[in-house]
Amino acid sequence: MDTGAALISRLSMELGADAVLTAASDVDGFIEDFRGRYKADALCVAQPATTQQVSFVVRACAESGTPVLPQGGNTSLCGGAVPAAEGARPVIVSLARMRRIRNIDVANGSIEVEAGCVLKTVQDAAAQVQRLYPVSLGAEGSCQIGGTISTNAGGTGVLRYGNTRENVLGLEVVLPDGSIWNGLRGLRKDNTGIDLKQVFIGAEGVLGIVTAATLKLHPLPTHRSVAWFAPVDPAAALRILGMFQAGCGSSLSAYELMNARQLELVIKNVRDRRDPLSAAHAWHVLVELSDIRDAAGLDEALLRTLEQATQEDLVEDAVLATSDMQRHALWEIRHSVTEANKKEGVGFTTDCAVPVSAVPAFIERATRAVHAVEPGMDIVIVGHMGDGNVHFIPMFSFDEWKTRPDAATQGAALRHCVNEVAYELGGTFSAEHGIGQTGLPEMAHYKSDVELTLMRAIKRALDPKNLMNPGRLIP
Ligand code: FAD
Ligand code: LAC
Ligand code: ZN
Repeated sequence: MDTGAALISRLSMELGADAVLTAASDVDGFIEDFRGRYKADALCVAQPATTQQVSFVVRACAESGTPVLPQGGNTSLCGGAVPAAEGARPVIVSLARMRRIRNIDVANGSIEVEAGCVLKTVQDAAAQVQRLYPVSLGAEGSCQIGGTISTNAGGTGVLRYGNTRENVLGLEVVLPDGSIWNGLRGLRKDNTGIDLKQVFIGAEGVLGIVTAATLKLHPLPTHRSVAWFAPVDPAAALRILGMFQAGCGSSLSAYELMNARQLELVIKNVRDRRDPLSAAHAWHVLVELSDIRDAAGLDEALLRTLEQATQEDLVEDAVLATSDMQRHALWEIRHSVTEANKKEGVGFTTDCAVPVSAVPAFIERATRAVHAVEPGMDIVIVGHMGDGNVHFIPMFSFDEWKTRPDAATQGAALRHCVNEVAYELGGTFSAEHGIGQTGLPEMAHYKSDVELTLMRAIKRALDPKNLMNPGRLIP
C-alpha cells in the first residue's frame, strides 16, 4: 500500500468510512473554489466531528508527511480554501461536522461555538437570547466561524463593531503536530503574556486548525432604520458619512457604497432585485442606524441627516425603508453583489482599504489608472465606505475572457495598478479577504523584508515541516 492509501485507510478506521471522501463525485465540491477559478486534486476529504478527531487527522498527516488544508464554507474569494496546483495533494479537513453551539453565557456576553458553525447560525443563536454577533457578510449563510476567524473577515458591520478579530475572546486550535491548545477563555481582560489567539486569527490555516471559539456578543438592537440614497459623487458620500457620525453617533451601523454599474448587475443577474430609486444615478449608498431606542427617533435622525445633505446639494434622491420587508430588500441588494458579478463576467476583485478620508481620491485615481491601461474597461465598485474598504473590480466579459489571450495577465496587471493607488494613499491591497493563492505576488511585493522574515519565523516555529496549508499566505 502506498503512503496515501495507508493514510486514507488509517483515517477511515478512526473517523468512519463515511467521514473520509475519496470518490471524485464526492470530492468535487471541495476542490474547486466558489467562483470556479481554482481546481486541483486532493488526496481525500476528512470530515472529523470532534476536536480529538481533528487532532488525530493532523497527527496522522504529520507522521506521513502529508499536507493538511483546513476548509470551512469554501467561500474564499482568493483561492484560500482549495488545493494549489503545485505540491503534494493535501488532505482537506472539512470542519462542517463540527457545528455545535457549546455554550451561551448571556451575563458574560459570550458564546462558545465549534469552528464549523455557519455564521448565520451563530447570529441566530445570539438573537434568540437578545444578543448580537455583529460580523455580517454576503456569504453568512455558508461561511463558517472557523473560516471567518482564519481570514479575520470584515463585512458590513466593521465601522461600529470592528473586524472578526475584535469579536474573538478565545480559541481552541489543533497545532501542526496534532496537539491541542485550549485557549477558550471568555475574558475581556487577560494580560498573561503574549496574546496567542491573535497569531491564529487571520492566519488562513497555515499555523493550525481552529476547532472552536469563544465570541463576543453585543446588545441586540431592537430598532433599525435603513435608507438607500444617491450621493452626487464619492466626495459627497464622504461628507454625508461625517454628518451621520456627528448626528447619529454610535447608532450608525452600516455605510455601504456602490456605483451604478454594480447596482445594474445586481438587478440584471439576481432574481427579485429592484432599483430602490425611480431614476438612474451614478452612485448609491445603503445606510443603517440601529439601537435599543424607539424606531421613530432613529428614522427621524436618519431623515434629518439626509435632509441636511439634500439642502447642501450632496444627495440626488433617497428612500427610507418603512417596513421590515423593505429593509430586508435593501440589504438583499447589497448582499447579492458577488453572486451578480460572478454571473456577469470575470472580475479582478480588489480588496483595498485606504483611510476613510481618501476613499474619493482612491476611486478617482484608480479609475484613471485602469482606463489609462485599458480604455473603456468595465469597472464595478462596491465597498464598505464606512471603514475605507473598497472592492474596485475591473471586469472582463465572458467573451473577452475567452477570446483575449492576454486577459489573465492584463487582469492581474490592472489589479496591481489599483493596489498601487491604494498604497500611494497609505492603504493596503487586502483589507478583509486575506491572501490565499491570489494575493501571493502582492504579498511578496508589498510586505517588507522584516515583515516577511517575522511571518516565516513564526511559521517555522509552529510548523517546521511546512505541512499546514502550504502554498498560501506566506510567499
Ligand atoms: P474558507 O473559504 O473555507 O477558508 C478560508 C481560509 O481559511 C482558507 O485559507 C482555509 O484554509 C482557512 N480556514 C477555514 N476554516 C479554517 C479553520 N477552522 N481553521 C483554520 N483555517 C481555516 N469576506 C469579507 O471579509 N467580507 C465580506 O463582506 C465578504 N463577502 C463575501 C460575500 C460572498 C458572496 C462570498 C462568496 C465571500 C465573501 N467574503 C467576504 C469572503 C469569505 O466569505 C470570507 O472571507 C469568509 O470568512 C470565509 O469563510 P469560509 O468558512 O468560507 O472559509
Ligand atoms: C463584499 C465582498 C466582495 O463586500 O467582500 O460584498
Ligand atoms: Zn467586502
